[in-house]
Amino acid sequence: MHLDKKILMGLAKKYGTPLYVYNGDLIVKRYRELYDFIDFPSLKILYAMKANFNFHILSLLERENAFLDTVSPAEVLMAFKAGYTPDRILYTANNMTDEEMYFVKELGVLFNIDSRTRLERYGKAFPGDEVCLRFNPDVMAGFHEKVMTGGAITKFGILPGDLDGVLEIVKRYDLTVVGLHEHTGSGLYDENKVYESMKNLLSIASPGNFPSLRFIDFGGGFAVPYRPDDTKINYEKFGNNLKAIFKEYCSEYGRDLELYFEPGKYIVAESGYLLMEANTVKDNRGRLIVGTNSGFPQLIRPTFYGAYHQVVNLTNPLGDSQTYDVCGNICETGDVFAKQRELPEVREGDLLAIQNAGAYCYSMGGVYNLRAMPAEVFCFEGKAELSRRRLSNNELVENILRECK
Ligand SMILES: Cc1ncc(COP(=O)(O)O)c(C=O)c1O
Repeated sequence: MHLDKKILMGLAKKYGTPLYVYNGDLIVKRYRELYDFIDFPSLKILYAMKANFNFHILSLLERENAFLDTVSPAEVLMAFKAGYTPDRILYTANNMTDEEMYFVKELGVLFNIDSRTRLERYGKAFPGDEVCLRFNPDVMAGFHEKVMTGGAITKFGILPGDLDGVLEIVKRYDLTVVGLHEHTGSGLYDENKVYESMKNLLSIASPGNFPSLRFIDFGGGFAVPYRPDDTKINYEKFGNNLKAIFKEYCSEYGRDLELYFEPGKYIVAESGYLLMEANTVKDNRGRLIVGTNSGFPQLIRPTFYGAYHQVVNLTNPLGDSQTYDVCGNICETGDVFAKQRELPEVREGDLLAIQNAGAYCYSMGGVYNLRAMPAEVFCFEGKAELSRRRLSNNELVENILRECK
């Protein structure tokens, strides 16, 4: 199903704005094409559900037999509700408490442990258990410094230099390391950085250090185009190169291991739209400001990362082009979706669509200024259905007061 202007306008009319709309057909296409690009017999794609935990999306990928990368107890519980079994879930929480560790252990998922001290506590609590270890690839890459997860200045993973200490803990508690993991960052536009991270992890993944490995997980971060002139990485070539690195490693290791990746953005980003109504147009001494009925708590990437999202004027596509700041309705100067953007003339009442709103938009959302998150509509195989409704103002207030009791 292609979500054209007419469909989006119809959905905005039916469900009101602001509104998220997701294209399930595109999600399936993106998910499946990763298996084509990487085409490795033991490949497993673990969807990083932090990108979007919409229940329809989770269920859709469950039916596709996807695996999941999870980062909090509630994500695991949500995954179970969508039909995933524990053996399809990897748990990669950062800075977890003991309470969280015991709670999630009961749920039966494999832990991916990202610090020496947590490994020590885990070993003490569950000696003889199986674990995956998250190493820091020591490579800085990603579309913004806030999403680079490698290197000594970030909080993630165990630095390769700490290997000896890790092996000592593994031995002391008779742990079996069945997997190794690294994640370099999000929006990895430079493929060479990915190869570098892979090689850094593989350089310590010898049978001497880790004799019982079943898999190696190279994280997510596959880039997608956001700007109109962004070129898409040649994923076929990229996939072949990834495979070649891994094949060579497996032959040195002495047997074939499973190859894991855990993309979020690649699978869902392009499937999503955030629809909003332009309700105010101001001419500030020549600077044109468009005010809308959404705001940065509903799509924080431009404010938080300076990220670019395309904005489309659905109802006046042929208007004369003008330059606008497209803003939200939140009491913050930084509440801007697009700065100095050329758009067909925007009139009060026009319907705007922000593209690539499928990843890290709803899931990073909040109710700042006490405005409820928009509803979500899920479209698949020609059908559109309400996935989650928007709370009324009264419900939002009542929910908060209930938590105060
Ligand atoms: C450990 C880990 N895996 C996977 C991902 C998914 O990244 P992306 O959505 O860029 O593919 C992230 C993103 O933050 C992550 O931290």
